Amino acid sequence: MNEALRLQRHEDLNMMELAALEQLFNSEYLSDYGRWNPDAPYGYSPADFHVLAFQGSVLAAHVGFQRRVISVGSDDVLVAGTGGVLVDQRFRGTGLGGRAMRHGQKAMRDEAEADFGFLGCRKEVVSFYESAGWVQVHATERCLSRTDQTSVIVSQGGPNLICSARRDASEWPDGDIDLRGTPW
Ligand SMILES: CC(C)(COP(=O)(O)OP(=O)(O)OC[C@H]1O[C@@H](n2cnc3c(N)ncnc32)[C@H](O)[C@@H]1OP(=O)(O)O)[C@@H](O)C(=O)NCCC(=O)NCCS
Repeated sequence: MNEALRLQRHEDLNMMELAALEQLFNSEYLSDYGRWNPDAPYGYSPADFHVLAFQGSVLAAHVGFQRRVISVGSDDVLVAGTGGVLVDQRFRGTGLGGRAMRHGQKAMRDEAEADFGFLGCRKEVVSFYESAGWVQVHATERCLSRTDQTSVIVSQGGPNLICSARRDASEWPDGDIDLRGTPW
């Protein structure tokens, strides 16, 4: 089947792309988390860039990211906060998730001009991100709750991962992380 990966800015998503995204997310999360909302997906911060991966005419995978300046120790760091990483069940295990992540990482550098990619995830999927070139960072993280958008949540152990974009991952500063908003 023909595979095509493309980057779309959030404001440029057309109705067909929005409908395809809604279907992809609802098929995975509707029963547990309700309907997907493009502007506040499950209370997380919305993406301003979307990697859309098509198999034929089917939207088979998505990676979203949003530019934001966060604090790391005493530094301001421009990250591409990454979320909404999802491969349609029918297409998992074929390397598509990894290809969509790589496509996203290139766009983080070339289109979003972010210094690093950043994400938080469940422990079980760390190895997926590591296989796409992401590395874990260990620090205390502060963010706003996705459930009420106002409570401050402080956590340790993440997992949080970063990837190189304009700067190499080895240049990630030491120190506590403040997302200055809700996570992705
Ligand atoms: C996680 C997910 C995106 C992986 O997509 P995929 O297309 O099946 O992954 P790939 O085929 O590209 O796998 C790439 C590598 O990651 C590993 N991997 C795949 N799924 C994994 C998982 N759920 N947990 C840990 N590792 C995984 C693969 O073994 C493979 O390793 P290799 O490079 O050593 O062979 C997909 O399973 C998914 O959409 N899951 C539900 C949503 C989700 O959990 N998203 C992440 C939210 S943080």
